[in-house]
Amino acid sequence: MSQNDLIELLPTASTLNGFADDVKAGLLATPKRLSCRFFYDDHGSKIFEEICALPEYYLTRAEQEILKTNANQIAARLPADTTLLELGSGSAIKTRILIEALIGQQGILQFVPIDISPTILEQSARELQQHYPKLEVNPVAAEYREGLVRARQLVSGPKLILWLGSNIGNFERDDAARFLSQVGRCMSRDDLLLVGVDLRKDKLVLETAYDDPAGVTARFNLNILNRINRDLGGTFDLSRFRHEAIYNDDEGRVEMYLVSDVPQNVSIERLNWSVEIGMDEAIHTENSYKYSLAEIDRLAERSGLSLAEQWFDNRGQFSLNMFSAVD
Ligand code: AVI
Repeated sequence: MSQNDLIELLPTASTLNGFADDVKAGLLATPKRLSCRFFYDDHGSKIFEEICALPEYYLTRAEQEILKTNANQIAARLPADTTLLELGSGSAIKTRILIEALIGQQGILQFVPIDISPTILEQSARELQQHYPKLEVNPVAAEYREGLVRARQLVSGPKLILWLGSNIGNFERDDAARFLSQVGRCMSRDDLLLVGVDLRKDKLVLETAYDDPAGVTARFNLNILNRINRDLGGTFDLSRFRHEAIYNDDEGRVEMYLVSDVPQNVSIERLNWSVEIGMDEAIHTENSYKYSLAEIDRLAERSGLSLAEQWFDNRGQFSLNMFSAVD
């Protein structure tokens, strides 16, 4: 892979303005909110890798276990010239399991990882290319929708599309169904879509997974304020906010917040604006939805996709779902 192969969305003035506008709208809202999309600058993406290695964050290991157990079976049901496409690939560690199974099955493989972080994407593409001589990597640095459109220009034959890590959990349920139906519209008859979905479970297990004792998730959450300080000239004092993660059982979601320890005024230079934040006032930063099996069925129905197969880890904490387009 050369530098030119990396299709990159540069952080232009307009994307910075988009960030600034979003931050202002979120901090003017009641309750205040900041979008979890902004967690993933290079630093945030690295902290997220640390989260994935935490003992309390069971999601990564559970999904890895499912992939290890079933990768050959999945590869065996694909046409011989399948291209692997991945949404939100990050460092693509779990993907290696499928890459090996697919190379074993078809000899060579084209892999199109789509991720928002160009740095992580470039690094993982280089490592993969070095490690697997039979692999051609064509990375696309973009958000999902944009990335899918670009990826379609690179791929002709059958595709296996991966959307792992329960990334779907960060979409509101309606948006998840809408996005899956958009993906479905990019799929032809032979294509398959594999989606990792975290399951509803015990409140304590969930809250510990999102509020680990080592404080890694707290750093991840607080990094969004760092980003505002760095990119928009904000004056957030990170030591005056605490991280909170609460499981809302009615909604089936973990909610993350940054809560102000003191009444404070924060200014944001690029916006030429400042905001009052009250003592114990919470800024909502993330929802991470968990699904029951019935909710996964309903998701398939609403997306116009057919749930072809479903696998679970040994503890029944996590699911891997194979969808095909309904014709
Ligand atoms: C990326 N996403 C699926 C993670 C999740 O579990 O919702 C983000 C995360 N937030 C806190 N820990 C991990």
